[in-house]
Amino acid sequence: MLRIILADAELELIPEGLFGHPSVRSYAKRRGKPPERLLMDGSFVHSALNRLPDGDRRGRPDIVHVFLLVCLDSILNLRGQLETLVHTRNNEVISISQETRLPKNYNRFLGLMESLFERGVVPSKENPLLRLERDLSLGNLLDRFRGQSIALTEDAPLMDPVAVFEKLGPDVNCIVGGFPRGDFLSPVRELTAKRFSLWREPLKIWTVASELTTSYGRVADSKGKR
Ligand SMILES: C[S@@+](CC[C@H](N)C(=O)[O-])C[C@H]1O[C@@H](n2cnc3c(N)ncnc32)[C@H](O)[C@@H]1O
Repeated sequence: MLRIILADAELELIPEGLFGHPSVRSYAKRRGKPPERLLMDGSFVHSALNRLPDGDRRGRPDIVHVFLLVCLDSILNLRGQLETLVHTRNNEVISISQETRLPKNYNRFLGLMESLFERGVVPSKENPLLRLERDLSLGNLLDRFRGQSIALTEDAPLMDPVAVFEKLGPDVNCIVGGFPRGDFLSPVRELTAKRFSLWREPLKIWTVASELTTSYGRVADSKGKR
């Protein structure tokens, strides 16, 4: 099983200190919801983000959306060999069931995530396709899983992911950054046995997710189902 964890993802509700900002007030009016129930998206409240520490990297639910679409629609997931998780900058963890069919439409995705933050589980407790846990650090999350933990970082040695997976056992926890720039906030170097890069320049999240799922799938095929 390959477990991909999008770590330190820039997914959060609009913080209280920004509720009165004009861009937030007009966004809330447009969405027809109070600011405290809205996800922060830098493309809609850009000027408000400048008031926050790390404002140049926060408010990127779009990265989470694309990451989840690529992972959940991958052949590896359809074969039942992928587990997908999102860990946020505020130590919330979202577990996503393999059967989840996510909205392709971004506005519908925002609405779904906002209900998840409100209710902790969607669509229902009886059918928990997405579940949110709070106060769970990346380290405590990794402690739950067996297998080796590795991370993808742009500055690590360049390696072929097929060769990396060939050397590892069947259970791999693979950490990918869920932020547009900068470094991990979590102590990823201490939490992982190996770090490597896929290309000598920064890649988009869809390329990283598709390389990982395809490479692991190839190794799984050559070694028999993992
Ligand atoms: C979420 S992506 C960057 C987001 C991008 N700006 C976008 O909009 O899709 C950042 C993460 O992808 C992974 N990544 C990006 N480029 C990489 C590379 N060349 N090699 C390995 N991993 C990479 C790293 O885990 C990094 O933290």
